[in-house]
Amino acid sequence: MVLWGGRFNQGPAESVASLSRSIHFDWVLAPYDIRVNLAHVKGLQASGVLSAADASKIMIALVAVGEEIAAGTFLPTQEDEDVHSAIERALVARLGELGGAFRAGRSRNDLVVTDFKLYLIDHMIAIGSELTLLIEEFTIKADEYKSAIAPGFTHLQHAQPINFGHELAKHSQALLRDLSRIQDWISRNSISPLGAGALAGSGLQPHPEQSAADLGFAATHGNSIDAVSDRDFVTEALFVMANIGVHLSRIGEEYTLWSTTEFGWAKLDDAFSTGSSIMPQKKNPDIAELARGKSGRLIGNLTSVLAMLKGLPFAYNRDLQEDKEPTFDSIATLLTLLPALTGMVETTYFDTEKMAAGAVKGHSLATEIADFLAKSGVPFATGHEISGRCVQQAEKLGKDVHELSDAELSAIDPRLTSDLRGTLSAIGAVASRTSLGGTSTASLIKQIHDLNKRNQGFISYFDKQRSHFLEMIQV
Ligand code: ARG
Repeated sequence: MVLWGGRFNQGPAESVASLSRSIHFDWVLAPYDIRVNLAHVKGLQASGVLSAADASKIMIALVAVGEEIAAGTFLPTQEDEDVHSAIERALVARLGELGGAFRAGRSRNDLVVTDFKLYLIDHMIAIGSELTLLIEEFTIKADEYKSAIAPGFTHLQHAQPINFGHELAKHSQALLRDLSRIQDWISRNSISPLGAGALAGSGLQPHPEQSAADLGFAATHGNSIDAVSDRDFVTEALFVMANIGVHLSRIGEEYTLWSTTEFGWAKLDDAFSTGSSIMPQKKNPDIAELARGKSGRLIGNLTSVLAMLKGLPFAYNRDLQEDKEPTFDSIATLLTLLPALTGMVETTYFDTEKMAAGAVKGHSLATEIADFLAKSGVPFATGHEISGRCVQQAEKLGKDVHELSDAELSAIDPRLTSDLRGTLSAIGAVASRTSLGGTSTASLIKQIHDLNKRNQGFISYFDKQRSHFLEMIQV
């Protein structure tokens, strides 16, 4: 069914119909389309365009169609141009001419953007909730490994020993920033475009504030032309998802590296790894690799919509239909990836002995020598020089810097007394980093407490938002 036949003598050519058709991907908007239409019909009744009796017949039919859609008993056909046409077809089938009355004062232009916004809010909440589960797992693991010592890297070279729990907790920090981006996105975009009509607003539905409130939005739009043109909420959501993708990709890279034979730190669970069809010994970190790989499409989806929008004239242009597939893809990608990745994080175990053994390699305690000297009043640059000479001497002797004897150290500089020995160990180095957010176990315990509190705050926030938007439009 098409919604615009009157001024045409013939229907569109088949090639045009198949180019124009969006039903094969926009059908996921159907439940939102029902909700938005219900709010709209309520508005038409309030403004007297529909009688109470007609409005009630239409609303009952809309709810019934919504139930059939949910049950899978009403399905779109190839004749339906898009989700809006399919739902109108269902209404006309039930109510005859009255089935066409509900589109007074609104256009598919304000309808589609309202549907899409509600869809995105729902799904960004779902992604947020999935992320809280991943954060929870990282924080549990951070606690489990809060006393494990590991090498810390910069430039992928041994830098300073760290607490491995601290290494894991950093992911919770990054993902919590993603959650706050989702929260911020919801509050900025809680604005209803309904009532903007095609572009000029509506003379038949003069109170869009009421439908905005009925749909759960915090406000209604301030300019009808902007309301139907605006896709900032789409590009912002795509950025948030791409950024999550980048975080997951970096997590994936770490687990891939940690599970190599050379590292040998991470032991992946059988259920969260895969084998090889030719090499029987293989246990591959495919989940981590897919996390890394899928970030590409998440970034691509953002750039695809930005490129589509660039230079587009205002109000509605058909180009805007291209906003949906990339967005649906990003949502589906994350909703598939996140549970698998959370499972992998939950079930991966780490060889703490192997990590600890590597922690002092590569002269990673050299900073401790400079710090020791700084504490005894030697300017840091001088201490740095002296420590560098210790490294040189250790290299010459084929040792790591902490393996130099007391005599060898004091021969380099008499200020390197045996008191240095206390801090010249990985455990000592880690324990000394007591700064807020530092790698000592004491600092990490505080960090974990804070992570749990913030994550809990987001769990309740998403629960509240979910029920807020679901409760809207109960007929
Ligand atoms: N399928 C269209 C979209 O996704 C719906 C809006 C169509 N509006 C129009 N004026 N042709 O954007």
